[in-house]
Amino acid sequence: MALKPVRKAVFPVGGMGTRFLPATKAVPKEMLPVVDKPLIQYAVDEALAAGIEQLIFITARGKNPLEDYFDIAGELVAELTARGKQAQLAALDGTQLTPGNIAYVRQQAPLGLGHAVWCARHIVGDEPFAVLLPDELLWSPEAPCLRQMVEAYGKVGGNILAVMECLPEHTDRYGIITPGKADGLLTEMTGMVEKPRPADAPSRLAAVGRYILQPEVMGVLSAHKRGAGGEVQLTDSMAELIGVQPFHGFTYTGRRFDCGDKAGHINANIALALERPDIAAEVRAFIATLG
Ligand code: UTP
Repeated sequence: MALKPVRKAVFPVGGMGTRFLPATKAVPKEMLPVVDKPLIQYAVDEALAAGIEQLIFITARGKNPLEDYFDIAGELVAELTARGKQAQLAALDGTQLTPGNIAYVRQQAPLGLGHAVWCARHIVGDEPFAVLLPDELLWSPEAPCLRQMVEAYGKVGGNILAVMECLPEHTDRYGIITPGKADGLLTEMTGMVEKPRPADAPSRLAAVGRYILQPEVMGVLSAHKRGAGGEVQLTDSMAELIGVQPFHGFTYTGRRFDCGDKAGHINANIALALERPDIAAEVRAFIATLG
């Protein structure tokens, strides 16, 4: 039977961003810029590059700037047009999505990533779907992570998680997979555990915020079982389906920045600034003064 294509992507943006307070008191974490684009734009660009047609945002109170960002800013556009600011107008291009291709669902309470994904169940329907965590910036513009995953999905189907090897002492920060047979960048999964202590970790292969999932995951999530941290964990629902459905880890080989974390966010800004011809020299010169 032909595989159903991955047309829909869920962007959970309902989290509180407590690691980034006070900035995230009034600004959604996903709106924090890396150089001059908010994090959410990088994730949306990655999804579109992978052929995603429908974008589903799981939002919360205080996240309205995200909706405004993907709307038309009529007065701004009129003013820039009147002043002949073509470059600035062009900078807005990526914020203009095809009308009707973006949907917003409110997660009324921050009950965890699994709960956020479950809130998308009616829009996802009976199709495979992608999940992208926008605070994880996966930077490989030549071969965006989700595009590589969609290609891999075309070969093996089922469920696929982007994974990277983490430091042995950092397993308690991630969902960690129990690896089975490996074939190139794909590793069969025989289990998964959320934030295990290093001594208990089944491997160092950590999920890094990109998933292709089958709709059956929604059924498991509907039980609202609380896991690590008292939250409804996406990891736990996937773990329940391993063995019932195929699951693979896809080893991502590009750069990754955890922009939900202060140091990760600063590193992302420096790394991407150094790739920007308009500012790289100035940033490099400043770094040289730090000794
Ligand atoms: P995080 O674990 O980074 O949580 O969530 P957080 O609340 O955003 O940030 P910290 O840890 O308090 O600093 C991973 C992703 O899941 C979303 C977040 O918005 C983020 O994209 N999320 C998390 C939700 O949408 N809803 C939730 O209830 C929890």
